[in-house]
Amino acid sequence: MKLSAFSERISLTGASVWETHTRAILAKERSEDVVVMSVGDNEVDTPAIVVNAAISALQRGDTHYSPVEGKKALRSAVADRQNRLFGLNVTPSNVTITAGTQNALFMAASLLLDPGDEVIVADPMYATYGATLSATGAKIVCLQCPRENGFLPDVAKLESLVTNRTKAIFFATPVNPTGVVFDQKTLEKIADVAIRHDLWVVADEVYSELIFEGEHLSIATLPDMQNRCITIGSLSKSHSMTGWRAGWAIGPEIFSSKAAAFCLNVTYGLPGFIQEAAIVALQLDTSKTRQLYQKRRDIALKKLSALPNVKFLHPQSGMFILLCVEQTGMDSKTFVRALFEQTKVSVLDAQAFGEDLRGMVRINFALDEQILEDGLDRIIDFLGKNEKPMDKE
Ligand SMILES: Cc1ncc(COP(=O)(O)O)c(C=O)c1O
Repeated sequence: MKLSAFSERISLTGASVWETHTRAILAKERSEDVVVMSVGDNEVDTPAIVVNAAISALQRGDTHYSPVEGKKALRSAVADRQNRLFGLNVTPSNVTITAGTQNALFMAASLLLDPGDEVIVADPMYATYGATLSATGAKIVCLQCPRENGFLPDVAKLESLVTNRTKAIFFATPVNPTGVVFDQKTLEKIADVAIRHDLWVVADEVYSELIFEGEHLSIATLPDMQNRCITIGSLSKSHSMTGWRAGWAIGPEIFSSKAAAFCLNVTYGLPGFIQEAAIVALQLDTSKTRQLYQKRRDIALKKLSALPNVKFLHPQSGMFILLCVEQTGMDSKTFVRALFEQTKVSVLDAQAFGEDLRGMVRINFALDEQILEDGLDRIIDFLGKNEKPMDKE
């Protein structure tokens, strides 16, 4: 017996990337003195008011099936959020509730792409994009965001990537893992190419409320873009709700009607009590969360800046710092393993997100401050011990 070709395509994301992270989690479960800096989660609990809303909903008996595309009240709350924060002009009928941004990403890929299609993706890209997009049978064509361009897409090359098979452009802004926020000029160029070649655009905006420098611009708000854009996001990062799996996809009605069919066949709708909690969450002010992340980013930047031989990227947003480890003479994969062996700190090999991140590792800074300082101290100590003598001169 054989599994399907789809099963191969969907397992593309190299399991080896998570090897050290998995070891760290197991070690943590055994109460070992590990610092997990390898995953995009934070130590802050979901606000009590949100948790209580879920509990009350359960106690009221909200334990039954709910509308597959999401409760109307939640779809309205998401539409209001988008319109209020980012100037979109959407109604509840444009919104589909999904099990997080990841589920919305898989939905968008499945509803827009056919085998043999080409999809242009900004590279570096979040680690699941490769498998999610390839699962459809479409071919990924990378739009490089080179180091020398500040990790912004090289939009001058975008048009040359379009063929008669190109169906869509996918990107995330802000970007995980570089923390780069796409500027207006970049988004206008993407919009221009999308309109002239009649392409869909999928914008992953999961970090849009965690920007410290610069401003989020939603590409769907650019002229003539709303009808070709699918905007995806969730409460995972902005509301410390990673485990709730509450997200959305916003698109024109031609997309939403098929999105409901997707939900019917994939999730059968999100649990009602989670949706009730999400409605309450969407009424909260998220500026405190952003300030907390920024404070933690600044702690990390201060510590790393004090070291003359250490290079890193200054993140404008999000929860990660990319640290250059080339000076150790190790490639990033070896570095991740050795760091964990010797210090019990887990970080992620950033090369998994794109070739341009060769020689870098991704560190989550959205941690309790004491844990963050401890983890960084161990990394710095490890770097000091492993610097190549040549670099010390
Ligand atoms: C760019 C990006 N997209 C999507 C996701 C998945 O987020 P969610 O928890 O909303 O599924 C992540 C998670 O880290 C991410 O960084």
